Amino acid sequence: MQTIEKKKTVFSGIQPTGNLHLGNYIGALRNFGPLQEEYNCLYSIVDLHAITVRQNPTELRQNCLKLMSLYLACGLDPQKSLIYFQSHVAAHSELAWILNCYTYMGELSRMTQFKDKSQKHAENINVGLFAYPDLMAADILLYQTDLVPVGNDQKQHIELTRDVAERFNSVYGDVFTVPQPLIGKVGARVMSLSDPNRKMSKSDPEDTFIAILDDPAIIRKKVRRAVTDSEALVKFDVENKPGVSNLMSIYSAVTGKAFDAIEAEFEGQGYGTFKDAVADAVIAELEPIQNRYKQISADKAYLNEVMTSGAERAAKIAARTMSKVRRKVGLAPTQL
Ligand code: TYM
Repeated sequence: MQTIEKKKTVFSGIQPTGNLHLGNYIGALRNFGPLQEEYNCLYSIVDLHAITVRQNPTELRQNCLKLMSLYLACGLDPQKSLIYFQSHVAAHSELAWILNCYTYMGELSRMTQFKDKSQKHAENINVGLFAYPDLMAADILLYQTDLVPVGNDQKQHIELTRDVAERFNSVYGDVFTVPQPLIGKVGARVMSLSDPNRKMSKSDPEDTFIAILDDPAIIRKKVRRAVTDSEALVKFDVENKPGVSNLMSIYSAVTGKAFDAIEAEFEGQGYGTFKDAVADAVIAELEPIQNRYKQISADKAYLNEVMTSGAERAAKIAARTMSKVRRKVGLAPTQL
């Protein structure tokens, strides 16, 4: 008898905060589209995570639509993937609470993102910021996710998700699929243009990152100004040449060229030629996305349709997991 293998499930999310940059694109977003062909994919705009730091409400609402438009401009197809706002599916918050009761303070205290964000927002180290990884675990576990495409900085959160899922399963049987991170070989950690020892970050000043929606002239200017070194040698050596290595990773990620081929291509040439080639390649990658973005973001009826139908379908899948979880932990059903 022929066995039909069930398609695996992919889940990922991005926070609708600030300007999405080349790190978000190379580390995560550009990997989302190709997965649609082989897997059941859900891509969320994680607005509840965003409010762990203070947001301007009007800007947050705009950023959510902006991010959904970017998802679509980067090739996500609502016929193939579920695209929705996290806060539109209440089960995310519900499961997050339950998972909080199966996670230890010590585990959450060790999270690097919590430590970083507590430093950046010392005036607002709230409980949500601390419990953030359990909301992320809920996002993933609700859909019985197999694979989570993310950049390197989210690996620790996925390891925690796995630990919590395994702990829950060991008490109640196989309730959750234990997910795996899916992290690209090149570009999983794109570094800041002004300090190549720090990762590129939305919350840093504008000139340290290339925004996906930056004008080509701005992209060129930012790449030209990127910190390198005085050796005038295009060579991949993260320890001694972090700036050049970062630009090489970006170039490799968008052109598909290997590091040794890039070294050969720019042998004997200065950083000026190399940087121009990096800027050209990044512009060639981003310009078509920017053009699609302009069209899509103007079509409010279409965005509305994608948003509501995504949430409706996601809620149905989430409800199946929630009913199992509620039963296992001993919460009474709504109908006796
Ligand atoms: P966020 O919104 O900070 O980032 C979105 C994605 O971009 C990746 N990324 C990077 N990749 C390479 N280089 C960089 N400099 C860089 N900066 C960011 C991130 O790894 C991420 O994949 N907690 C998540 C959002 C989230 C989530 C989830 C992700 C919430 N729930 C469930 C996966 C599954 C976050 O803050 O990503």
